[in-house]
Amino acid sequence: MTDKLYDYPKYYDIAFSWNITQEIMIYKKIFRDFVDFPVKKILEPACGSGRFLVKFAREGYEIVGYDNNRKMVDYTKRKVTEAGLNDKIKVVKSDMKTADFDIIFDAAINPINSIGYLHSDEEIVAHFCNTASDIRKGGVYVLHLSCAWEDTTAEAEDAETWSAERNGIKINTTWKILYDDKEQNLSVQQGAMNIDDNGKKLKLEETHVLRLWTYEDLKRLVKKSGKLSLKAIYNEDRQRLPLDTEIIGEMGNLFYVLKVI
Ligand SMILES: C[S@@+](CC[C@H](N)C(=O)[O-])C[C@H]1O[C@@H](n2cnc3c(N)ncnc32)[C@H](O)[C@@H]1O
Repeated sequence: MTDKLYDYPKYYDIAFSWNITQEIMIYKKIFRDFVDFPVKKILEPACGSGRFLVKFAREGYEIVGYDNNRKMVDYTKRKVTEAGLNDKIKVVKSDMKTADFDIIFDAAINPINSIGYLHSDEEIVAHFCNTASDIRKGGVYVLHLSCAWEDTTAEAEDAETWSAERNGIKINTTWKILYDDKEQNLSVQQGAMNIDDNGKKLKLEETHVLRLWTYEDLKRLVKKSGKLSLKAIYNEDRQRLPLDTEIIGEMGNLFYVLKVI
């Protein structure tokens, strides 16, 4: 069986259930170091099955997540209710290109390169503008993404494979970059899950087309938004990188701190 990964939120939730304590620590450090007021309300665009929503809510934050996949949204709403966190978390269906809220947030986060699902400069700038307008001035939008690799052969060989298990469901996931289209600024990637759901076997496999980021492009589009300003970059080991670092994909997913101006 071949189908869309995000149409199976139960399996996504298991496959992507790795420990996110380190990422949460980085986001909290950024909130402390870059926002002059207490961060209490957070927005998560493209929230998927809500692993960050639940973790932040359990730490006392109020958080709103949105996703453009109805199945993902319905699953996440049920998960939040079952966890007894409806007073802290709201989940809605919306799209990064157009999302707009009546609520004003203190900060927003966008983990594991989900912003990559926006391809064109116009879509990205629109997303920067609509997100910034939902965040209090002086708040931050933290993007977690990786840039194009310099050594494309090494990149193609850098497939990530991992396993996860819950309630008798075993999932083996592989994620790899198939190729980069530097003319179109797109990275063509493949995600595959081999699932054993209590004896029932299925395979979900599909191509994901993501924005191929360069640091120059990111800086240019942030500036073009007129509403955000790049303040800092951290790697996943919580080391701060100077803004004039030559950023390449080999450095992995980095955290970009965009301040609302
Ligand atoms: C890799 S998952 C990440 C989910 C979550 N942030 C996490 O860390 O687990 C990417 C999510 O982006 C959603 N998505 C893709 N394009 C989107 C868009 N244009 N607007 C909102 N959500 C989108 C997908 O439905 C999927 O749930």
